[in-house]
Amino acid sequence: MKCGDHFLFPRDLEKDYPLAVRGEGVWVWDEEGNKYLDGCAGANVTAIGHGVAEVAEEMAVQAKTLAYPPPQHFLNRPSLELCELLLRMAPKGYSRVMLCSGGSEAMENAFKIARQYFVYSGQPSKYRLVSRWRGFNGNTLVADAVGGNTSRRSISTPMLMPVPHIVPAYCYRCLFGLVLSDCSTECAEDLEKMVIQEDPGYIAAFVAKTVVGAAAAALAPAPDYYRKIRRICDDHNILWIADEIMCGVGRTGTFFAAEQWDALPDIVVLVKGLSSGYAPLSAILLKEKVFHALRSTNSPYIGGHTYNAHPVTAGAGITVLQFMQKHDLFASVKEKGHHLFNGLQDIARDFPVIGDVRGKGLMAGLEFVRHRDTKEPFPSRESVARRVSDAAMAKGLIIYPVSEVLPGVEFNHVNVFPSDIPLEGSDIRMWADALIYQSKPVMNENYSRESVDVLVEMASMIRGSKAELRNKPWMGNSPKR
Ligand SMILES: Cc1ncc(COP(=O)(O)O)c(C=O)c1O
Repeated sequence: MKCGDHFLFPRDLEKDYPLAVRGEGVWVWDEEGNKYLDGCAGANVTAIGHGVAEVAEEMAVQAKTLAYPPPQHFLNRPSLELCELLLRMAPKGYSRVMLCSGGSEAMENAFKIARQYFVYSGQPSKYRLVSRWRGFNGNTLVADAVGGNTSRRSISTPMLMPVPHIVPAYCYRCLFGLVLSDCSTECAEDLEKMVIQEDPGYIAAFVAKTVVGAAAAALAPAPDYYRKIRRICDDHNILWIADEIMCGVGRTGTFFAAEQWDALPDIVVLVKGLSSGYAPLSAILLKEKVFHALRSTNSPYIGGHTYNAHPVTAGAGITVLQFMQKHDLFASVKEKGHHLFNGLQDIARDFPVIGDVRGKGLMAGLEFVRHRDTKEPFPSRESVARRVSDAAMAKGLIIYPVSEVLPGVEFNHVNVFPSDIPLEGSDIRMWADALIYQSKPVMNENYSRESVDVLVEMASMIRGSKAELRNKPWMGNSPKR
């Protein structure tokens, strides 16, 4: 549907969007009956897939019972239960949860909490935030200022507060010219240099996405990175705020992604998998020392929103988390992620335009380059990631494109974030069709060629060699959707 045919203000005013009408598992249907395989869980949102009836039923029960107890006057049972459940699932040391309704809103509150923590602990000079390039932390103005995706924030530049950024933890293009085997995480040390230069007496918090999702396609830092970040933050009395909006709630195999670096942030923001898209819900988990400082002054928290701790959305969160527990989903993410990663690497071998395959758990990213030997990025005018995604969508496969258009730091990525639905028998086959092939012989014998076709299409668009690729022995004719 084109912009002129309706009254909604859409993301892209020029785009002709299909009208989605139904979802089931990893499938979405539009009103014309076309079926799409969701290879990126929306935007890494629908972790448990579409159409889980018990979530909808719980929300309906709650909406009928009590739709809106105003948070300035009442507590409500579903919110309390959700917070308790979150603290049971999180690593030890967290003692309070604030519930909000979206990622940017939660990030803004995390910043306010960090500021109030220092004011209430007698260190009012500490107010500044330090962040990292190549991240995205939301679309509100402070989140924009903190974010490190230049093309997303540049239009707002005159309105943004100054936030120093450290170098990204971008192993494929290491700014220090190192490879992983020689790495001593100089990119983490950049935080210490920055903090000293900017004066730690003014710095309240370091903000980073533990695994960068959409903004840089599943960038996961080197194994030592967050232990170093933790040490630097402790040494300079700085809070570490982890944006786990995409990568939290088990999407990388542990409840917080940071657990895999053996280091825990002071404030953690969770969103997408938390309600798996069934309701707008976010959570900010606070370490006890943060909450304690805020509480000890007997001052109310300065902040708050109309939809804080909403019982209907909290009900959705509880049911989603219980569903994850019931099906033991976190435990299987690592194994599935391993297959995903191997499968994508296998595909990449045949496509020199895929320079890097990376990720953690069920968050995987592909970086496109002119040729993997040179790592030369495509110029932004070629819109490679967008064209790849459009080609995939036209064939019924949803993947998530990301690009940076700034000359000199262009990049083109797509994210592959399959839902973590309980997988058995034919489901595994379906999942494999979402771009996951463990090996070419398997792919040749058993799996639909639909996804391969997308890659051929994208490779041919990029380097015009469709005929050559079509001659690969493992290629077949793509079945109709
Ligand atoms: C890592 C990260 N942080 C923040 C946000 C902003 O969240 P929201 O769109 O709910 O405001 C997003 C959204 O995609 C995100 O992926």
